[in-house]
Amino acid sequence: MTEHYNELQATLANIVAPGKGILAADESTPTITKRFSALGIESNETSRRAYRSLLFTTPGAEASLAGVILFEETLGQKADDGTRLADVLAKRGILPGIKVDKGTTPLPGAPGDVITQGLDGLAERLDAYKAQGARFTKWREVYAITDRNPTELGIDANAEVLARYAGVCQQQGLVPIVEPEVLIDGEHSIERCAEVTEAVLHAVFDALHRHRVATEAIILKPNMVVPGKAHARKATPDEVATATLTVLRRTVPASVPTINFLSGGQSPEEATANLNAMNARDTRAPWILSFSFARALQDPVMALWKGAQSNVAAAQAAFNHRLQMASRARDGTWSPALERQR
Ligand code: 13P
Repeated sequence: MTEHYNELQATLANIVAPGKGILAADESTPTITKRFSALGIESNETSRRAYRSLLFTTPGAEASLAGVILFEETLGQKADDGTRLADVLAKRGILPGIKVDKGTTPLPGAPGDVITQGLDGLAERLDAYKAQGARFTKWREVYAITDRNPTELGIDANAEVLARYAGVCQQQGLVPIVEPEVLIDGEHSIERCAEVTEAVLHAVFDALHRHRVATEAIILKPNMVVPGKAHARKATPDEVATATLTVLRRTVPASVPTINFLSGGQSPEEATANLNAMNARDTRAPWILSFSFARALQDPVMALWKGAQSNVAAAQAAFNHRLQMASRARDGTWSPALERQR
């Protein structure tokens, strides 16, 4: 067992605090530039710093946020008063985390599948991130659904990389967020998403076992089981909860302390309603079911901010509202009526 076991457990004790979840604010520079551009906001170091400062200084956010995943650039940035942004979070009792993968590239031998890069030199990079205040990490593998994808090779190769990443993180004393994301793009049914997600998670936990990763010291960040975005019919929150919990129960060991879902292109209200439906069931799951949303927490915030200092207060109010809704969903006490009470 890793010499850092107690450190990993202490980090997790913070992450699983009641009512709390994770904000993913780790969009790479090309991704946040795409999101800013869609709203007419210029993307440069200054505007990205201003936007992330807005999120991290939102009054009340500490009530619903256990951690925030940062992009490398943000870890080195400072707030207006000169405090490092990672310290702004830490001072509020919110743990800073860091995205450590270097994005995807096509997987040779598996047309249509991709694989995530960044394992070389990872241990050394982690040491540096830890010295800058990071306490947990994120690595995302991506699986598109088509008639042929993901292939068996794609599923196995991606699982192997996730497990190698998780092993290195635990060895360095950082809790790994293990994120296998089955994409929402396409016309596929909820049954097809369930079939793929089950195969992916099964392979991931097999690889974690082979690599001697302590499953009680990871955070799982999966997609919810939903129909493709272009599918003819949307699933109800009840259908999503049933399909997602069935797949998770078949594949995820009870030792995993917490499952923090990504929102994956669902609207903020959809992602919240679906998480709520899982937590509102009277048959308790063995894990905490929480959130690690990016778009479902940030979309309305960015749209209100529009890059203007004069909009900061309104944008922060919208962020706090989304956080409160996600927190209620984590407890299974959200309702559509709450969305309109502000
Ligand atoms: P979304 O919630 O927007 O899917 O983002 C979560 C995330 O961190 C993807 O890697």
